[in-house]
Amino acid sequence: MRKILNNQISHMMTKSAGKMLGIDGFARESFVHTNPHFITNDLNEEFDCHYNLEWKDFCRTIKFRVEHYGLRSPDLVFFDPPYSLRQLKDHYDGIGKDLKLWQTHNMWGEGKDMLASTMQVGSRVVSFGWTSSGFGKKRGFEKVELHVFEQVAREDRYSLLVTVEEKVQHSLDDYTVDIESE
Ligand SMILES: C[S@@+](CC[C@H](N)C(=O)[O-])C[C@H]1O[C@@H](n2cnc3c(N)ncnc32)[C@H](O)[C@@H]1O
Repeated sequence: MRKILNNQISHMMTKSAGKMLGIDGFARESFVHTNPHFITNDLNEEFDCHYNLEWKDFCRTIKFRVEHYGLRSPDLVFFDPPYSLRQLKDHYDGIGKDLKLWQTHNMWGEGKDMLASTMQVGSRVVSFGWTSSGFGKKRGFEKVELHVFEQVAREDRYSLLVTVEEKVQHSLDDYTVDIESE
């Protein structure tokens, strides 16, 4: 797993001539904390991240910094959220926070929209989960790799899917906004 992530970091470092910006919105204690090219976030304040925000607020902050404060557009996003509503609730219970109703309906979509809209063609997302949906075509991404890790010894038995996507076009929503404002 780590090799997949390191390969993506190397790819982006080469492509950006060493200037890449990586984003990890659910960083926990990930190795990316020691990588100066990454901005990290985790809701749980126990983890020593740049931000301890809810995913949507974190994405809004990154978008705002890109659009108004000259932050580089993200080259590489690691997306490793809780994989189910059950896991999400457990995380919230674990840190004594209330899970809001909107989060149970649309766990990550709005944050993905915000982040995707700041990303350039050629940038990449690595998503972890029980599905391979990732950021998806609607946001302008195309799959470039799919890795399946069978969790034989785990109770839930779902395979963990690691999906690598590359941005190939701006999202259809961006074009709609352009047309509407013409
Ligand atoms: C699957 S773990 C991430 C593991 C991490 N990528 C690693 O390699 O160690 C999910 C993390 O998301 C955090 N989290 C849960 N809900 C969140 C939310 N709404 N916004 C941001 N972080 C959240 C949890 O505290 C947890 O550390």
